[in-house]
Amino acid sequence: MKVGIIGSGAMGSGIAQVAAQSGHDVVLIDTSQGALDNSRAKLAKVLARLVEKGKIDETTGKAIQSRISYSENHADLTGAGLVIEAIVERLDVKQSVFQSVENYVDDNCILATNTSSLSVAAIAAACKLPSRVLGIHFFNPAPLMPLVEIVPCVQTDPAILKSAEALISSWKKVTVIAKDTPGFIVNRVARPFYGEALRMYEEGYGDFATIDHAMREIGGFRMGPFQLMDFIGNDVNYAVTESVFAAFYYDPRYKPSFTQKRHAEAGWLGKKSGRGYYDYAEGAVTPVVDTSNQAQLDYIVSRILVMLINEAADALYLNIASKEDIDLAMTKGVNYPKGLLQWADEKGIQNCVDALDNLYDEYREDRYRCSPLLRKMAKSGERFF
Ligand code: NAI
Repeated sequence: MKVGIIGSGAMGSGIAQVAAQSGHDVVLIDTSQGALDNSRAKLAKVLARLVEKGKIDETTGKAIQSRISYSENHADLTGAGLVIEAIVERLDVKQSVFQSVENYVDDNCILATNTSSLSVAAIAAACKLPSRVLGIHFFNPAPLMPLVEIVPCVQTDPAILKSAEALISSWKKVTVIAKDTPGFIVNRVARPFYGEALRMYEEGYGDFATIDHAMREIGGFRMGPFQLMDFIGNDVNYAVTESVFAAFYYDPRYKPSFTQKRHAEAGWLGKKSGRGYYDYAEGAVTPVVDTSNQAQLDYIVSRILVMLINEAADALYLNIASKEDIDLAMTKGVNYPKGLLQWADEKGIQNCVDALDNLYDEYREDRYRCSPLLRKMAKSGERFF
């Protein structure tokens, strides 16, 4: 089956590689010839490295490259069975691209968007055949991250959802199904990992390095929140937070932080700009972590964790995804050491409710309201698994 990818930036190029590695002929489309040239050169480099490491042989590398063609013309999408759009994150631009694509593909071609924050329903609504549209949301870098969120919108034909899910699974990806709501699973449930860390920093519970240390060493997370924000880029992470906050009608649970906003405004974007919460200049001094106060470190971890658990429980309560998919999404999409709902079972549901109620009592902020699901489960003594 021929696969069309529109947008040859970070995501489109990665998805094209995944599709070509799975044996598809791929046409990669971009409005910018420069972007197409970059994408072709980057893929050649990536594949050369895989050959060097012995992960693939040279013939396979050549075959993958030869399966991808590069074009500025939507007419080259003719005959595709699936088109995935990964262009700039703007609804009007995406809608007009989908409308144009429909002029060239058959009625049975699946149209997918890789959007992280826009409404899939709104993109589908611009199409002649909205029932063939859905979200297929990869994580960056697409060839390495195992998770893909499949996002049917209200218009999506269930048969299209099934075919898309089967196809992406055949690309050796772990698929989860998420409702068409802001942030889907991962970008919604993960908000407190950043937000609560920033909040605790602002309240003086610890500096960046101390909070990161606690989350890594006690929490078992691969990266601390500030380290991860520096890796993602404070501009990108702040923009996601702001858009999720607005999309949830300004629910205080998702409130962005001035600390991060100022870092982004200062150009302290993180690794990519050489400075973020940490200094990445050569010879920069590694901050010293004060590990003397164990109670403080434990408090940091348990507060961020219980906020994450609350978010995961609420996502289940609101039918954003199944409990299995919520746990799978966080372990495969952002490498959490454990599924959050499983973690809730281990901590004890009543303990989670008590911790959230304590925070709520202390702050009197809606941000700390306990999910009705956790409260119900605590009453009846239920567990998630
Ligand atoms: P990018 O900026 O690296 O690439 C976007 C590409 O689209 C550029 O090459 C640009 O020339 C091209 N483009 C813009 N308008 C176009 C049009 N009308 N027709 C054809 N090509 C056009 O962006 P990136 O990061 O690859 O993101 C693309 C999409 O994927 C966005 O919707 C984003 O929200 C989503 N996404 C991004 C992730 C990330 O971590 N970067 C993760 C998951 C999803």
